[in-house]
Amino acid sequence: MADMMWAGRFSKQVDAGVNAFNSSIAFDGRMYRHDIQGSIAHATMLGDCGIIKKEDSLEIIEGLKGILADIDSGKLELDPNAEDIHMFVEAELTKRLGDVGKRLHTSRSRNDQVAVDLRLYLRDEIAEIRAMVVELADTLIRMAKEHTETIMPGYTHLQRAQPITLAHHLMAYVWMLLRDIGRLDDAAERMNVCPLGSGALAGTTYHTNRQQTSDLLGFTEPMPNSLDGVSDRDYCAELCCAFSLLMTHLSRFSEEIILWCSWEFKFVELDDAFATGSSIMPQKKNPDVTELIRGKTGRVNGDLVTLLTMMKGLPLAYNKDMQEDKEAIFDAVDNVKLCVKTFTPMLATMRVLKDNMRRAAAKGFINATDCADYLVKKGMPFRDAYKITGTLVAQCIEKELTLETLPLEDYRAMTELFTEDVYEAISLDTCVRERKSEGGPSPDAVKKQIALAEERLGALKND
Ligand code: ARG
Repeated sequence: MADMMWAGRFSKQVDAGVNAFNSSIAFDGRMYRHDIQGSIAHATMLGDCGIIKKEDSLEIIEGLKGILADIDSGKLELDPNAEDIHMFVEAELTKRLGDVGKRLHTSRSRNDQVAVDLRLYLRDEIAEIRAMVVELADTLIRMAKEHTETIMPGYTHLQRAQPITLAHHLMAYVWMLLRDIGRLDDAAERMNVCPLGSGALAGTTYHTNRQQTSDLLGFTEPMPNSLDGVSDRDYCAELCCAFSLLMTHLSRFSEEIILWCSWEFKFVELDDAFATGSSIMPQKKNPDVTELIRGKTGRVNGDLVTLLTMMKGLPLAYNKDMQEDKEAIFDAVDNVKLCVKTFTPMLATMRVLKDNMRRAAAKGFINATDCADYLVKKGMPFRDAYKITGTLVAQCIEKELTLETLPLEDYRAMTELFTEDVYEAISLDTCVRERKSEGGPSPDAVKKQIALAEERLGALKND
């Protein structure tokens, strides 16, 4: 009992099972740096405001720095029996400083602490993840530059639809990632406000300086309402939502890579270092990494649902339910990092089998729209041209031909508007080259979007 900081009101030891059930140090221990950072700011403010003596404040700060160094170096291990990281650090401080250590918690609550620690911790993690996403976008842009002429089929309904290039396809993901970076930035900006000083829920009677602690910790401002300060977890859900979308993008791309690796497509070959074999089938080379990313996307979505569901019925202000926020958001952070970190080098080392892409593009009548457009450009209304082309495709299927190999007389039997130049008009290269509308797959159009993406990414890098 003597171990519990709140022991005063209690006459019995807390049940060992309850203690273990209640304890969060196993997972919130990872915030020890941020907890100490928050405590140093708080102690500084207490000293400056004359709430505790200046020399006590300085001693506390030195003590906290010592604890930080000792945890960092492994000299001090987190006690698994402590209730949480906040209690652990404070207890350790008191162990080291005696009565002076007991002054740190003046005018502060753990509700304050956990709210401030989590914001500080996530702020750091976002910066790391953001840099990883920037690197992924850079890698994709680099690959896109090499493949502006690599023709492949574009799909709708997973049916070959119209010809595109690999660069065009890769760039679609770059734009998704740029939005992801924007969402991370938004989440980071909105979460960067300071709850410290909210107290347990109703502020404090001491003359504190919340602006000072907010400034010391690099927040934009103190949160204006103490109830909101200790009970807001919007930032966890918002960040997790940004993660879910990022993972959704990685997952869609992973799904495509899984398909592309199959013998049915064979558009790419993963580097041996990024694929795995089978324990029984000697021929297998499996895209496990991409499958795991697809799987982990479900897990991160689960974390988001955990956070939203945990919060939806909570009365103001703090409730212990909120301790559940950390495992969910930490799990999302860890898995997003793992996924992006593995995905980028896997992509960068992946071999593109251009010939297979092109062969696939040559099948499936993906130039049928261009054939119809050929007639339209010669004056025929689009709907009539569409119908004629459809009939020609049916003829090709019956004769086991393609539009490129169908004899001119078959074309001209449908309409005299067809002349020898139809073959040039429907060649894959022409089909891609002529799709120069803004955002389209022609090499020129793609080069323009690459330049734009580089400019936008450059601006984001300098932010
Ligand atoms: N471990 C708690 C959490 O993670 C810290 C806040 C506890 N506050 C309290 N009044 N029990 O939410």
